[in-house]
Parts: sequence; C-alpha cells; structure tokens
Amino acid sequence: MAYAATCIALLAVPVLAQYPEGSLYSPPISSGYGNWSAAYAKAHAFVCNLTITEKVNLTTQTGTGASYGYSLGIIPRVGFRGLALDDSPTGVRSTDYSSAFTAPLNMAMTWDRDLIYAQAYANGAEHKAKGVNIAYSPVVGPLGRSPESGRIWEGYSPDPYLSGVSFGLTVAGMNAAGTIAVGKHFVLYEQEHFRQVREWNDWHLPNATFNTTEPYSSNADDRTLHELYLWPWYDAVHDGMASVMCSYNQLNNTQACQNNHLLNDILKGEMGFQGFIVSDDGSQHSGVLSALAGMDMTILGETSPNGELGLGISFWGPNLTQSVLNGSVPEWRLDDMATRIMAAYYYLDQDQNFPELNFAQGDLSTFGYLYPRAMAGYQQINEHVDVRDHHADIIRRVGANSIIMLKNINNTLPLNKPKQIAIIGEDAGPSIYGPNGCPDRGCDNGTLAMGWGSGSTNFPYLIDPLAAIQTQAIQDRSVVQYVLDDYDTALIDSVVAQATVCLVFINCDSGEGYIEIDGNYGDRKNLTAWLRGDDLVNEVAGNCSNTVVIAHTPGPIIMEPWIEHPNVTAVLMAGLPGQESGNALVDVLYGAVNPSGKTPWTIGKRREDYGTDVMYVANAPVPQLNFTEGLFIDYRHFDQAGIEPRFEFGFGLSFTTFSYSNLRIQPASAASSTSASASTAAASAQITVNPSVCPRYALNASAYTFPSTISSLTDYIYPYLPRNSSFTVGPAYPSASVVAVAPGTPGGAPELWDTMYTVTVSVANTGSVAGQEVAQLYLALGNGEPVRQLRGFNKTMIEAGASTDVSFTVRQRDLSIWDVPGQSWVDVRTLGTAVGVSVGASSRDLRLNGTMAAIGGGGSAAGNYSASVTAATTSPIGPVVTEYSDGQPQVPTEYSDGQVQVPATATS
Ligand code: BGC
Repeated sequence: MAYAATCIALLAVPVLAQYPEGSLYSPPISSGYGNWSAAYAKAHAFVCNLTITEKVNLTTQTGTGASYGYSLGIIPRVGFRGLALDDSPTGVRSTDYSSAFTAPLNMAMTWDRDLIYAQAYANGAEHKAKGVNIAYSPVVGPLGRSPESGRIWEGYSPDPYLSGVSFGLTVAGMNAAGTIAVGKHFVLYEQEHFRQVREWNDWHLPNATFNTTEPYSSNADDRTLHELYLWPWYDAVHDGMASVMCSYNQLNNTQACQNNHLLNDILKGEMGFQGFIVSDDGSQHSGVLSALAGMDMTILGETSPNGELGLGISFWGPNLTQSVLNGSVPEWRLDDMATRIMAAYYYLDQDQNFPELNFAQGDLSTFGYLYPRAMAGYQQINEHVDVRDHHADIIRRVGANSIIMLKNINNTLPLNKPKQIAIIGEDAGPSIYGPNGCPDRGCDNGTLAMGWGSGSTNFPYLIDPLAAIQTQAIQDRSVVQYVLDDYDTALIDSVVAQATVCLVFINCDSGEGYIEIDGNYGDRKNLTAWLRGDDLVNEVAGNCSNTVVIAHTPGPIIMEPWIEHPNVTAVLMAGLPGQESGNALVDVLYGAVNPSGKTPWTIGKRREDYGTDVMYVANAPVPQLNFTEGLFIDYRHFDQAGIEPRFEFGFGLSFTTFSYSNLRIQPASAASSTSASASTAAASAQITVNPSVCPRYALNASAYTFPSTISSLTDYIYPYLPRNSSFTVGPAYPSASVVAVAPGTPGGAPELWDTMYTVTVSVANTGSVAGQEVAQLYLALGNGEPVRQLRGFNKTMIEAGASTDVSFTVRQRDLSIWDVPGQSWVDVRTLGTAVGVSVGASSRDLRLNGTMAAIGGGGSAAGNYSASVTAATTSPIGPVVTEYSDGQPQVPTEYSDGQVQVPATATS
C-alpha cells in the first residue's frame, strides 16, 4: 500500500513529522474477536439503545473535582449508574483502609510470575471492593530509556521481555479480580521534563527559562518503536488488556492522543486491541481530531491541555455532541467509542454484582459534598470500607522475594543472633511526619517505601526497618543501637564502634513531574544516593568492619564510592517495598527467605555509561527527544559498547549456589518449517467486516439541549448543548462498511505466539540451603540486533543438593525482528541467521550455549519475506479525513475554543 510505504520511510527518520500530506484517518471498528465476542454482543445491544448524549456521557468524565460520585456514563434512563475511575499501581489512590503494595519495580525484581500475578490480583480486588470500575494501572511507559526517569518504579524494567511478561501478568491479575486494568502511558513517555507546557514553564528552574510551547516529542524509528517500546503492549493486549491510556508526549511530533497511526493503525489495527483508549489528565489536545484518531474516553473531561485548568470546559462533552450532530465526527465513531467502553465493562463481568463506589478520592471525611465545587449534595461520601483482606502477606512476600543481594562476603548474611546491631541512617526509621505526611508521597523523610506522584497510595501503616529489626532483636536478645540523623558523625562513629554488625540505610527517590524534591523535578538529577548517602556508608564502614548496606531506590544508583570498601561486607537492594518494608527486609536479613531477586536493570559504574539521559534543558520550544540510540538501552547498550557494568542486568546472589548443565533445544512439532510461517502471511489478508451500526437518532437540536428538568452544577460537564442552541446539521458520514481490523486474536497475528522451541537445562543447587534460582535465556538474533536479548526466564525453588529441569518456551515473536518496509515481524532464521542461544544466571554469567539453525535462504531483513508473520493492515475505506502537512485535519476543523467548525465542502 503506497500510504504505508511512504509513512514507514518517514518513521525511520527521527524528528520528521509522522504523516505525509494526504494521509488518512482510519478509525477501525472492532467487532469483538475471540473471547471478546460475548462482551461485544452485549455492548452493541446496550449502546444501540442510547441517545447521542447518553453515548457522549460514556466518553467524557464529569470534570476534575466537580463530583465525588461516578466519573462518567451516568445514564438514569436505562438504570446505568455510571463508572468510577481511580489510580494506581500501588493501590487504591488517596483513600483509607486499603493496602500500600510494593512498587511494580519490586514485582519485576522478583522475576516471579506467580507473585506478580498475586499482587496484581490483590490490587485489582481492592479497587473492585472500593467500587472502582477502571483502575489506572499498570505502567510500562516509561519503559526505562534513562535510569533517571522519574516514573520508572511505577513500571518494571527497561528490558521489553521482562516488562512484557510483568505488564501482561498485571493486566491479567487485575482483570481477573474484576477491575478494568488501564495500561499506561502509550507510548514513548520516557521522561517527566517537558511533558506538559504549563507545568514546566512554571517550574522556573534555576538558570533555565523554558518557554516551551508544546509537550516534548519522542522521535523514534519504526523498528525501535516495535521491538523495544511496543513489545510489552503486545503482551498486555494478548493477555486481555481492556483499556489503554495515551500519554502526554508527542510521538514523532504528533500528540499521542491524536496520533492516528499510533492509535488506529498500530494499537487497534496491528495489535488487535479490543478495548478503549483513554486520555491522561490533560493529554487530550483536541476534540474532533482525537476522536477521529482513535481516542475513546477523556478523563478529567476538562480541556486542560498542557496543564491549564479548563474548569467545566471540555473538548468533548457538549462539543462531542455537537460534532456528531454537525457531521464532524461520524456517529458510528461515537458508537464505537461507547461500544468499546461497554465491551470492557462486560468483558470483566462488571454487570454482575459490582460493588457501589464507596469512597471519595482525595477526601477521607465521612461526610461531605458529593459535588464539592458546587457545594451541593451534602451526604456520606466515604464508607471507610476495609478492602485489605490478607494482602499484607502478599506484599511481604513480594518485598522479601524482590530483595537483590549484590554482595555477601564472609557469610555476613544471614544474620544469626548478632550480639549488638548498629542501625544507621534516616532511611531505617519512621518519618516524623508519618508515612502519609506529604501529599502524594512528595518528600523523602524517614524510610522510603514508595515513590511520589499519581502512582502513590496512602499507607495504612508502614513497618520501617528499625521497628522490624528490633522485634527480631528482642527474640534474639540482641542489643540494638541506632542513629537516624545522617549528619551526626560523632554519634554514628561511637555507636558503630561497639557493634557486631552495622546496618546502614541509604535511599534516593523519584516520581511524577508535578512534584519537585530538592531539585529533582520528577526525574532524578543524578544517580547517587541522597542525604549524603555515599559519605554515610564510608563513615560507617570506616569504623565498622562488618557493614551491611541496604538501599531503597526507584532504580539503579552508582555505588562506586563504597562498593569495594573491604568493610562493606554485604549489600541489599530493596526497591520500594510498600507497607511491609521492614518485615520483608528482616525475612532476608535473618535468612527466613533466601534472597532471590535479580536486577531488572544494569547498575553502571558511571552515569555516562548508560549512554542515554533525560533532557533537562529544552532544546527547542517543542523539545525534541531523539531516540538515536535505537534498540540500545540499558544492557543492550553496555554489551554493544563493551562497557563493564558494576552489576549486570539479571544479577543477584543467593545464600546457596547453582550449577547449570545439559542444554537441550527442541523444536516444537512443525515449528521450523518455512511453510508454516508462510501460511501466516496468507491468514493476515485484510478482513472486511460490516459492523452493526446503531440506528441514527433524530438530528434536531432540541433533542440534545440542556433539559429543563436539570439544573446545572458548577464545573460539572454535561453532554448537552446549551439551551436555545441553533445550528445546522452537517453532512452525514457514510456508514462504515469496510473497516480495518487485526487478523485474529488480540496481540497481533496469532502465529507470533506459536511455540517454536522448548529450551531445557538442568539446574542444581550446589550449596547447603534451599534456594530459588532465576535461570535466564538469552538469544542473539543477528541482523543488527543487540548482542543478546532476554527471551525467557524461569524462577524455581531447588532443595539443597537437588537438581531439576528448567524449561523456556520460545515463540515465533521471540525469534522475530520488525521489518520496516514489509511492516511485519520476520523470523530471523528465515533470513539465513542461526540464532545464538545462551542460558545462565545473569546477562553476563552465561553457562551454556547452543544454536537454533537458520532455515531461510539468506538475505537481509528487507529482502526475504516468505516466512514473515504479517501484522494487521488497515483499510480506511469509510470516512477519510485528509491532513495538511502541519498535522491538522482539513475537514473538519476546530476553533481554538474547542468549538467545531464545519467547512463548506466535506471530504470523504
Ligand atoms: C498521570 C497518570 C494518572 C493520572 C490520574 C496523571 O498525571 O500521568 O498516570 O493516572 O494523572 O491521576
């Protein structure tokens, strides 16, 4: 298709606008594939019975702070009470009697599929029990291009495979509990700096005046986009993700939430996403355009592009009603928006006994105004429902099993009834302000167990390390001395001099860009420990020959100032462990849990070694973040550049040791034949569907103006046109008869998920205690790919002296690279490439090596497509909107006030 070819060529070059002149808007209609079909049937029936304003009500939130009730979709005529929405990946945000889970980072640090799923399920169950239909979690954007990126702890790992598994399992777990998991932020949202104009122009950073005019643009080529940043999204779509949040940033200079290629072609087309796309708070920058480009729901509801408050004014709401009536947005697009939202609702069985919303996000009072801006509806707004169940156990298990032991000499750990323990550092104890002392955890006082921003939640309690260690010490009859003031060196010196073991606690923090701590504007400004952490460790180690360092961090830190100090005998990284922090740490410190966490990122020796960084000073009014490193972030970069890390990706010690032997690489039946793959291409031929378009409603203004029976509330967004509106009904779009959809099940071409090989190794526990090993599979795909890439992991408990077989499943996608000209995934074996196979204990501790044979006749990625797994293609035959080269649609257009202008001649 000529359009695709031109578009691809441009995508391969960073910085250029994404669309060539003349490209098309191509919103596909989903008819509900696979296990979505029943949900779609119900959604169609529901939506076709709604009026235009009722459908608009499903798409547009009622406005920030205008209501503590249901956020959208309140349709009394059909008895639909509406939908409630809330954050976050660490728990139900800004309420009480709910859990403070570990950061998702810790889930990834466990490399344990069962624990990831268990915590996700628990988080989903708490949202449901509070009455939250739609939970803004999990996060895989940022992926972790830069280790300083403020929100990386809300996600998992810069490795797309580890992130993909974790992301998919989190979606599956939350969904299974009954809450709609919202995967966010789509996509290339890799730093906080310059994500919104007002936020960053208001910061007035020292020595910098920004004056940006638009959010930053992440400019990435198509192959990098697919193989790195989109990879985990395939997992989540495959695992049933029912909602996606589009991000603040631009992608190749088009806003993510109005990016037709990204939302319509890739997410809804190529990946076969069946659910709905929701904006972030203020990431919607247009009305008609975002609707045509594939956005289905606006949170906040208010305009607020770039962070300006648009109290009560919406791009959608009444403007969407008007846009449909005047022909700017086809009614079938509105139907598809509403259908996708309701399909997600039915997909998660939310029509079956879903609890009532029973709290007011951000207000813990029992009584208050349901409509605070209007000071109306005084009533009970919080029932204080305790939804925590047995989840503390899960949080403690994730916490303990995520701890990464980086160093342990002289068998320092586990501790065995030490005679005298010195505990040093503010990070060991409670904050004098309490665990919830700062809004959205926007400070670093006392022990750090959570990052800051919308990914935070309230602690119901926080077990700090000091409290937990003292509890253990009482049983052991140990003496415990402590100094929580990092700066009282004299006291520290005297206390540690008496100790058998010195536990020194350090941390650093990061979070979302609307909060700044000590010059860290969301993104960290450096990779070192905070509060003189490096000096503190050296201070303690200088006076204590048995110093154990414990670090609470949102990502990697530089450890060079102290890691080789001979008195630093053990080092534990504990991530951000949530409410059970101290208990989880004690489990590992004293050996009740043998450490089994592995690094989900590389720990470099110098910040520069990562090769990527946050852009701290805007390089243009529309900051241009060029992903020139392509596929080479984190260990992919260290390997390619030949840089020695301090601790490589996938590293972590245990109290025992493991040996590896007997590598077996077994092709799955019929897996390695080219014909099996070739048939895939045929299966991906375009599919033409005839969606059942709902009957069109009367197009007269009076049916959609503000009803006389309702009096309007301050700042509350309604779907109605103003009373006495008069307008001309615009030209009708043709009904959508031909629509692009992905071939087959969600997650792209089904063959991507076919098993090609099973790789098996024997792992033996050669030490004297039982322990869990995370065996890791890496593949070398040639063709300009990274030296090695994680393509499997398996965490297994092995008794001392025992041996077990550990297997990895290698799917078609694991062997494939993204072929840009062909717009398809290509199995590198068909390009004449033999795939290198390595299995080991980390990315640089590879114990066994083998090969998967080439099966093709050779050629470059651009040459041989006979065995390609073709992704979905799209066929925009319905309404098409031509775009000017500046990225604006020719028809229809919008005035700057968000009102829609219908031009004299419509195109179709
Ligand atoms: C964040 C989202 C969050 C939303 C609602 C935004 O600032 O980027 O992750 O879900 O706020 O709180």
